[in-house]
Amino acid sequence: MDPLLHIVSIVNHSSLLLPPQIQLEPLFVVTSIMPPSPDETLVHDSDQTTALTAVTQVGLQPQADQQPSSTARGRITLVGAGPGDPDLLTVKAYRIIQEAELVVSDNLVPKPILSLVRGELFVALKKSEGRADQSQDELMNVALEGARRGRRVIRLKNGDPFVYGRGGEEVLFFRKHGFEVDVIPGISSCLAAPLSGLVPITHRGVADQFLVATGQGKNGSIPEIPPYAHHRTTVFLMSVARMADLARDLVAHGYPENCPVAVVEKATFPDQRVLRGTLATIADISQTEKIQSPSTIIIGNSVNALVAEQ
Ligand SMILES: C[S@@+](CC[C@H](N)C(=O)[O-])C[C@H]1O[C@@H](n2cnc3c(N)ncnc32)[C@H](O)[C@@H]1O
Repeated sequence: MDPLLHIVSIVNHSSLLLPPQIQLEPLFVVTSIMPPSPDETLVHDSDQTTALTAVTQVGLQPQADQQPSSTARGRITLVGAGPGDPDLLTVKAYRIIQEAELVVSDNLVPKPILSLVRGELFVALKKSEGRADQSQDELMNVALEGARRGRRVIRLKNGDPFVYGRGGEEVLFFRKHGFEVDVIPGISSCLAAPLSGLVPITHRGVADQFLVATGQGKNGSIPEIPPYAHHRTTVFLMSVARMADLARDLVAHGYPENCPVAVVEKATFPDQRVLRGTLATIADISQTEKIQSPSTIIIGNSVNALVAEQ
């Protein structure tokens, strides 16, 4: 198993204790932004070192003074963290992240944002093949238990919680367990990536509408391809891993081969990259440039609207 998926240390700091019926696999890194006590062990994980200071074992038996209180009433807030640049957090998100007692975060949220957390922090590590649903359930149970113990809990999500973020499902889950959830929007990558790559998704005389889609359906299925419209910009999330297949599918569904395409990798990060091509060329360009997730694909004539004439 990937060593990153292991909890690498057990420490005696366990303020978020789960009842025995919740069996967590060691998927989470549990962190404290407080300096670790001498009996805590630092995580030296190349991906997480900056933000994470200590790990805590989860799944321990509750101690008497940490049993759920019948009077304590926690709060759960879904918070959009935006596309990556911490300066693109909303003022409200910035404030509430610092006030939270427990933050349960997806792994796409970058370290500079996680380092704002003053309370306890759970970060989901990379979801391994075939267990994305299980990972999601585990995250939700951690958040739920925190709220049951009367804590102010944040579910921190990349971009906007309701754009391919399963935010709606989370609201229904917490509601089913008696918690109405507050939701704070974030700037979605579907808007931030085109803008940051200098693609105006609407542009007078070029594109008067835009559509957001994914090239990755549930359980690896291929979602329905939206029909081509020459005055539309189509934005694909979660699709870069199947760039070649997607380009082929789009052409098979009537998109012109010379339709402009841009790929914006790590939009708003300091090392953002923007590639431009057409449906005929973008797969090769992406492969040559070793384009990685997270990337957003933008398709349509607006891609070249601000490209200076040669
Ligand atoms: C699970 S979806 C979550 C989308 C998120 N809720 C939002 O509103 O941006 C993840 C996908 O969003 C896109 N994405 C997220 N952050 C990005 C970034 N900084 N640059 C480019 N694309 C990004 C990628 O397509 C990635 O595969």
